[in-house]
Amino acid sequence: MKIVVPGGTGQVGGLLRRALVADGHEVTVLSRRPERLEDGVRHAVWDGRTLGAWADEVDGADAVVNLAGRSVSCRYTDANLRQMMSSRVDSTRVVGQAIERADAPPRVWLQMSTATIYADARSRGDGLPHDEATGVLGGDEPDVPLYWEYSVRIARRWEEAQAEADVPGTRRVALRTAMVMTPDRGGVFDYLSWMARLGLGGPVDGGRQHVSWIHGEDFARAVALLLEREDLDGPVILAAPEPVEQRELMRSLRTAWGGRPGLPATRLMAEVGALVLRTDTELLLKSRRVVPRRLLDAGFAFRHPTWHDAAADLAAQRRRVARV
Ligand SMILES: NC(=O)c1ccc[n+]([C@@H]2O[C@H](COP(=O)([O-])OP(=O)(O)OC[C@H]3O[C@@H](n4cnc5c(N)ncnc54)[C@H](OP(=O)(O)O)[C@@H]3O)[C@@H](O)[C@H]2O)c1
Repeated sequence: MKIVVPGGTGQVGGLLRRALVADGHEVTVLSRRPERLEDGVRHAVWDGRTLGAWADEVDGADAVVNLAGRSVSCRYTDANLRQMMSSRVDSTRVVGQAIERADAPPRVWLQMSTATIYADARSRGDGLPHDEATGVLGGDEPDVPLYWEYSVRIARRWEEAQAEADVPGTRRVALRTAMVMTPDRGGVFDYLSWMARLGLGGPVDGGRQHVSWIHGEDFARAVALLLEREDLDGPVILAAPEPVEQRELMRSLRTAWGGRPGLPATRLMAEVGALVLRTDTELLLKSRRVVPRRLLDAGFAFRHPTWHDAAADLAAQRRRVARV
């Protein structure tokens, strides 16, 4: 297939590009910077907001996988939240416009979204995880900070921007993705491993909040399935079938890094730590508990279904990356 990947320069983009090229696809990345990527990947410049010559890449392509969006690993200041919103909504809208105007529109448009769209799992009452059929979208939970509600609103507007496009011939899927764990530098796994190695990988605020995650290899395999399966459209959760409590997530990670101690942190300590790291506590404190019902029903077999094994695999890969 000829596949266009807007925003394919980041952590998830790197992993996906490599997997798509390895599967024999022709990949074109759209980025705001003229950057040289690895052999086998074409590169075109766009601004993520307005139509331009880049739209020719979409015309005649078989698929678009749009990953563009300002990183969420930052302080949730008003300015950053606005950029998190506009970079996602504007880029999705303009991808839709490029597809609308194409003479030969792509057959499928996979649009990145987030599992953060669901409510804090502790607010559900029935103790069940969210799935596509019965999950409760966030925004109305009592007692959560107002800006948590805003990140749900970003997710909803992001998906709406895809749904509103007038592209009847193109199958649309919203990828409600959990934390993508890869051994690469600068990714979530790298950051959590760094904390674990420093002895800071203990429970945060009691550690009973759930974390949903997916191994990068399974993420790429799930995308491959969604590119092929013409019967699947709408929201699809990309997460391992077994979300874990945060204290368990860190315990497995400490084991993977040779059994480090893990100091517990209070909510206040997490706030201070997040401030120092210029990130936000929502990423640590919100209970994210989703299960990939539609992928499982479609027969998708996870290579890394459990966190304990996935953490060991990723740490081994990380050690190899560090050696070369
Ligand atoms: N990583 C995860 O665990 C995870 C989980 C769920 C969802 N997601 C979502 O998946 C997407 C990719 O994640 P990632 O971790 O690869 O993120 P990333 O490393 O921050 O990469 C995102 C890419 O988006 C582009 N971008 C940033 N600001 C933009 C703007 N204002 N307009 C247009 N493009 C912009 C950048 O490309 P250029 O600078 O080259 O233009 C960047 O390489 C993001 O939307 C993220 O929210 C990620």
